[in-house]
Amino acid sequence: MTHTNTPSRYWIIVPAAGVGARMGAGMPKQYLTLLGKTILEHTLERLLGLPNVTGVLVAISPTDNIWPQLPVSANPRITRIDGGAERSDSVLNALEALADQAQAQDWVLVHDAARPCITLSAIQNLCAVLVDDPVGGILAVPVSDTIKRVDANHTIVQTLDRTQLWQAQTPQLFRYGLLRASLASARARGQTITDEASALEANGHPHRVVEGRADNIKITRPEDLALAHTILQQQETTQ
Ligand code: C5P
Repeated sequence: MTHTNTPSRYWIIVPAAGVGARMGAGMPKQYLTLLGKTILEHTLERLLGLPNVTGVLVAISPTDNIWPQLPVSANPRITRIDGGAERSDSVLNALEALADQAQAQDWVLVHDAARPCITLSAIQNLCAVLVDDPVGGILAVPVSDTIKRVDANHTIVQTLDRTQLWQAQTPQLFRYGLLRASLASARARGQTITDEASALEANGHPHRVVEGRADNIKITRPEDLALAHTILQQQETTQ
């Protein structure tokens, strides 16, 4: 890829169009409240604290009637776009919405609404480590548990070598052109994509992990809420 000498711009995409089925809360998990604010508001508040961001796109389900009630939905720095059937469809919709504005070498930072405990310093470190990279990379943490592969009966078939295993998080930071092309070709092949990095990987664009923090948890199951509450509370007193 050819790079110009002008510094790349940064865009943020927040997929927030999921229904949160594993949470079983009766409403999408991003609208559950922690410390007086919804999870989505916590996440956006942190991302909006980043300097030098050209635009923030939030993917919201077309049937979502909670988003317009949040004060943050009126923030002029935020553009709402329609989410899709899968997380990768929501991200691709946002990338397509940027087609007339973004350059191929611009950076796109994709961060799940369901990770409200992300710290600005972890994001800034990700951006700093990758600043000259032609592809991008992701925040991740080395796996600390021993990981088992099991069959349909839950019988263990393999114990994986954890020295080579990292747990992928978001933000995931990639060049606009490569990210859009990789997600589009994954969709055309019918490949299941649970993060941006796997689309880049499948399209032959090697990229790195940058070590993040273990407290950047993704709220998925009911027990994650109490943990996120404790982490947010602790971060508010120490940052
Ligand atoms: O379900 P999971 O936790 O993997 O979702 C990760 C993120 O992707 C969440 O923030 C969720 O709102 C978002 N998502 C989306 N569109 C979908 C499904 C999930 O934006 N169709």
